Amino acid sequence: MARRPRKPLTARTADKLDLYQRSVQSPDVDVALMDRLHKRLVGHPPRLLREDFCGTAQICCEFVTLHRENRSLGVDLDQATLDWGRKRNLQALTPSQQERVTLVRDNVLAVTRPRADLTCAMNFSYSVFKARPEMLAYMKTARKGLKKNGILLMDLFGGPSAQEEEQETTRKGGFKYIWDQAHFDPVTHHILCRIHFEFKDGTRMRNAFTYDWRLWTLPELQELMVEAGFHNVHVLWEGTDSETGEGNSVYRRRLRGEADHAWICYVVGQA
Ligand SMILES: C[S@@+](CC[C@H](N)C(=O)[O-])C[C@H]1O[C@@H](n2cnc3c(N)ncnc32)[C@H](O)[C@@H]1O
Repeated sequence: MARRPRKPLTARTADKLDLYQRSVQSPDVDVALMDRLHKRLVGHPPRLLREDFCGTAQICCEFVTLHRENRSLGVDLDQATLDWGRKRNLQALTPSQQERVTLVRDNVLAVTRPRADLTCAMNFSYSVFKARPEMLAYMKTARKGLKKNGILLMDLFGGPSAQEEEQETTRKGGFKYIWDQAHFDPVTHHILCRIHFEFKDGTRMRNAFTYDWRLWTLPELQELMVEAGFHNVHVLWEGTDSETGEGNSVYRRRLRGEADHAWICYVVGQA
């Protein structure tokens, strides 16, 4: 049977969480990295993954497809986003996979059980913690919620471009994704970011998401992890494609990085 052509997206018909997932998330790539990292640092694959600030829980859902013993726990404050994830992402799984995903509506600062093999805080969501004591409290809670030697994985963006008030537009299938660094204060490192979407018919979805964050630095996050009791704290830095000079999506443990204009890396610690 011929497939019905997809209706063009417009600001009126599009679903902002669907656009978000299509713009910023690659759960298959993320869980492959987590699986490899845990095998390397702990000696076996992770079986219980905790996704903090899980939103629509794409990582939780992807993780349980990797192995029949894999379980995941997603924690997020926003009921409507969790419900969307349940309906759209969980229901796409087999019944056995669905049973192995638990989503809880709670503050990540309040959840420490069950103890996970690996906890991830992705897409910089932990940046809502703008004061040092709050970030330290988050890391201590994350540590309490991990098994011995369990891993905390956080991504971070940085480089001079992260401190510029600028917009970056990326074309996606049927729409444009616009990352807007609307305001950055060099004194506090408070950063206000927004996501907008634009459609082929000229309509726009402005301020679909707003993030009132602190732009943390790599030394700060590593020092805080050590202070929170983590060991083997280190950075995974992206390699460079020798032909294009661009990042090659291969992340390796590195003691030094390059002074790139924009970079994304991972901070890792073991409980
Ligand atoms: C940028 S979204 C991240 C979604 C997803 N983790 C990702 O990688 O794209 C941030 C999420 O963090 C949640 N959030 C913010 N503060 C939180 C807190 N203290 N505890 C739990 N969830 C929180 C919000 O409800 C929102 O769904």
